[in-house]
Amino acid sequence: MFWLLALSAYLLGSVSFAIWLSRLSGRPDPRTLGSGNPGATNMLRTSSRTLALATLLGDLSKGLVPVLIARALDLSGQEQAWIGLAAVLGHLHPVFYRFRGGKGVATSAGMLLGVYPPAALLALSSWALVFYLWRTSSLASIIATPLVLPLLAWQKPSALLPFTVLCALVLWHHKHNLKDLLAGKERHF
Ligand code: G3P
Repeated sequence: MFWLLALSAYLLGSVSFAIWLSRLSGRPDPRTLGSGNPGATNMLRTSSRTLALATLLGDLSKGLVPVLIARALDLSGQEQAWIGLAAVLGHLHPVFYRFRGGKGVATSAGMLLGVYPPAALLALSSWALVFYLWRTSSLASIIATPLVLPLLAWQKPSALLPFTVLCALVLWHHKHNLKDLLAGKERHF
């Protein structure tokens, strides 16, 4: 059951809402615009608020739904978190797009919301604060993602290892953003 759910989560994570919503609304592929990232931030930057919001909710659900299904099927807390990670892996390396996907922030937030909602709340509020102060989505993601690790270690240790792996993956996929931030060239809103 675990592996079947993990595979399904990976396949669901591989579906790109940014690409599909752009296609359905007759807009250019988000991978050819702005930062080139098929995610909500780049949709906001290059498309419309509505499509950005729909992308955010879609990507978030990709992390949340598999965790909720795993819980409904009585899988352990750690198994739920690994299944959420499989969805994030799908978003980062989608089988449908030659394994080149997004940066995994919204899908990770969905996974976190399913695994331990207070951690998702902490991530969301710290993301919003950093974004409000610096108007830079990548900086907000880079700070908010690892910030929840101590809270998980304290309150939800079963999710700590999967989320640490997830955190390393998300940060790795922000390496170009980090380079641009350090060089003062990152895109602001
Ligand atoms: O969630 C993605 C965000 O952290 C960075 O996106 O398009 O600015 O590279 P972008």
